[in-house]
Amino acid sequence: MRLRWGILGTARINRRVIPAMRLARRSDLVAVASRTRARADAYAAQWQIPGAVEGYQALLDDPGIDAVYIPLPNSEHVPWTMAAVAAGKHVLCEKPMALDPADIDRIQVAATAARVVVEEGFMYRHEPLTAKVLELVHGGALGTVRAIVSGFTFALSHATDVRLDPALGGGSLWDIGCYPVTYARLLTGRDPKMVFGSAQWHASGVDEQFMGMLRFPGGTTATIYSGFRAALRTWLEVMGSEGALTVPNPFKPGDRELLELERGGHVETIEVAGSPTLFVREIEHFEASVLDGAPSVVTLADSRGTAATLAALVGSARDQAALYPE
Ligand SMILES: NC(=O)c1ccc[n+]([C@@H]2O[C@H](COP(=O)([O-])OP(=O)(O)OC[C@H]3O[C@@H](n4cnc5c(N)ncnc54)[C@H](OP(=O)(O)O)[C@@H]3O)[C@@H](O)[C@H]2O)c1
Repeated sequence: MRLRWGILGTARINRRVIPAMRLARRSDLVAVASRTRARADAYAAQWQIPGAVEGYQALLDDPGIDAVYIPLPNSEHVPWTMAAVAAGKHVLCEKPMALDPADIDRIQVAATAARVVVEEGFMYRHEPLTAKVLELVHGGALGTVRAIVSGFTFALSHATDVRLDPALGGGSLWDIGCYPVTYARLLTGRDPKMVFGSAQWHASGVDEQFMGMLRFPGGTTATIYSGFRAALRTWLEVMGSEGALTVPNPFKPGDRELLELERGGHVETIEVAGSPTLFVREIEHFEASVLDGAPSVVTLADSRGTAATLAALVGSARDQAALYPE
């Protein structure tokens, strides 16, 4: 059995995902849809995709497609995931799947009724570096985890990017702040019991930099940062009662990463081999969920917790903005 894929939209991220679909063991990319016929045709020719379809619904109506990859602007994730499920397709939807946790509940109900797999695309969750970090932290290498510090920044170059449009679900927290937030939830295995957010707002109304504090049951804290106005950088440090772990490139691991585990004044370097091509593991784990019934790596329950935490952080930052106007 193989998985026949369609892609909704000619997004930039497809440049990474299309090669991965081709390397994955049981996937075939059969069609791409675009809002315009001309773009669909040109893109299919450029990427040697057999089918070019005008309009996303037309692709969903094609019985020759089993699964769709949804790399649309954030506001479009829920409506097109729901439409795909209604058409009986399995869905791999880019992060963040939803801006409102109640939407994940609707997706869960629809996916269960339609007997399809729906998963949020957090590629780093599928990588060996993440597995090694979890093995160390959950195996007690740091003692009890007390504090997590993590962030993701890059300098946004186009003034017209969908990331700056509030109507399309723009903003740095939803775009890249979701990475440190999900990593903190993954390490603690919990939802935070308290969050505090503070943002600097772009003229459009989206946050262009975001600082968040999360306190988890048991007292572990996480400090997260995201922003469109600093150079590209990602970081993760985990501090425990007996040691600390520094993780380079936590969200986009290279093919050889060096973790630093510091205990009792001694620093141990731990080498972790990565994937030759990112996204292949994500696609192959999705194949296993659809074709073999394997559990999803990123479950909808997990996505619900992510959406709820992000929404709470945005709410807190809006409260702060009302209290302390610029
Ligand atoms: N996992 C990762 O590492 C990663 C990395 C980057 C981005 N992402 C995620 O992938 C998604 C896409 O990001 P991207 O930077 O690749 O996006 P992008 O290049 O701006 O492309 C978005 C696509 O969505 C379609 N679209 C539908 N409605 C639109 C609208 N109203 N305005 C603009 N485009 C619209 C367009 O395709 P047509 O015109 O062909 O219909 C467009 O090509 C986002 O959810 C983002 O968070 C994930």
